[in-house]
Amino acid sequence: MSGFRVIQGGRAADGQPGLLIEGAAEVVTMVGGLRRGPSQDDPALIPAASDPPGDDAPVVACWEGRILAVGPRAELLQVLEDGGYPIARFARLDAAGGTITPGLVDPHTHLLFAGSREGELVLRQQGAGYMEILAAGGGILSTVAATRAASVEALEEHGRRWLGEMLNHGTTTIEAKSGYGLDLATELRLLDVAHRLGAAGPVDVLPTWLGAHAVPVEFRSRPDGTEAYVRHCIEEQLPGVAAQGRARFADVFCERGVFSPDQSRRVLEAASRYGLQPRLHADEIVPSGGAELAAEIGALSADHLAAPSPEGIDALARAAGTEQPVVATLLPATTWFLMHEDFAPARTLIERGVPVALATDFNPGTSPTPSLLHVLTVACLELKLTPSEALAAVTINAAHALGIGDEIGSIEAGKAADLVVWRVPTHLQLPYWPAADLVRTVIKKGRVVVERPPS
Ligand code: NIG
Ligand code: FE
Repeated sequence: MSGFRVIQGGRAADGQPGLLIEGAAEVVTMVGGLRRGPSQDDPALIPAASDPPGDDAPVVACWEGRILAVGPRAELLQVLEDGGYPIARFARLDAAGGTITPGLVDPHTHLLFAGSREGELVLRQQGAGYMEILAAGGGILSTVAATRAASVEALEEHGRRWLGEMLNHGTTTIEAKSGYGLDLATELRLLDVAHRLGAAGPVDVLPTWLGAHAVPVEFRSRPDGTEAYVRHCIEEQLPGVAAQGRARFADVFCERGVFSPDQSRRVLEAASRYGLQPRLHADEIVPSGGAELAAEIGALSADHLAAPSPEGIDALARAAGTEQPVVATLLPATTWFLMHEDFAPARTLIERGVPVALATDFNPGTSPTPSLLHVLTVACLELKLTPSEALAAVTINAAHALGIGDEIGSIEAGKAADLVVWRVPTHLQLPYWPAADLVRTVIKKGRVVVERPPS
């Protein structure tokens, strides 16, 4: 974090209602809605016509937290004048020859947990499998034990720390799952902390109930433990979660040896009846019917997909041709960190017209990275996405995976002014400098929330 100044709550552009960001080498607008097929590779770029960028450089204008206009300087100033926006009411921000993109959107995180599991990395190096560690009562279950024992203050402190890391890497909106409580009281605590951290800002947090993440120890000793826990999720947890009103989505770990497609369907259909939109962990380790189920129930997003069946890919391709496509949210940093060989078939999904998003899957077991930029690099190297495809996957498509593609994810008039100014002259360099600090400035709802001293 060194070198960054995080400004809690943000600096309101020197008290002005407007903010003009000038001097960029390019603006990646991502205008044009959800990307799929060939359009996934189109960043809807506005480049500066000259190098170094001069009067023709693209400018982004924000007004009271929203994007007002974007375009080449001369055109944009005309738009402001015609619209009656006095130029004197705009604070100025110099992009200093950098790239401007929409704020990054992370549509799959397990933000809140206690403890850490570095020991599993060594176990996996020695040949232990992820599911084997879980079946032996470790993995998710060890984090559940630590999380149940953690105080609200400790969870809040942890959440603030990692949200700060995410923000410093350019992320302005995340989804955050519960799933390390597995009892009503702890699940509610996690959802409430996620909600309150988002309300405090600057990063927006959309909470997801993931009660069906694993079968907790107290159910494991029963002969029908998984079934009994599924009923507990539907009959005990879900009504409480719905009454609390914090969760926006419901998720299930649909995987062989965890929850079957039928059990996952029952949980997600019950959740839908309470107004929680379905998404799911699908085919992370082996083909488990997750992609098929996501298409069947019209989930917003099917996540992981490292091992979908051919039928599952067909089902997602069919859904992609409808009004309500299921976004394939791929988590390649997880496959990488698990040292698995088979990454999600991203090229096939794109060729079949399935919209692809990317997420960190931030969690203590399979993906302890808060950085979407790191995910971008892994996606380019292992999923063979182009840099533009990968960037669409963490902006506009990630926003659609959260059902808020009309509000964030692109730089267009009327949307929230969530922006990142990067210290590179082209977005093609975003995946190109692994582990470098590339953020110059982060703007959330028109306010400067991270700024890096000029280098
Ligand atoms: O997406 N696989 C299920 N959930 C997480 C991992 C959670 C954990 O290992 O703590 C995932 O990989
Ligand atoms: Fe996950």
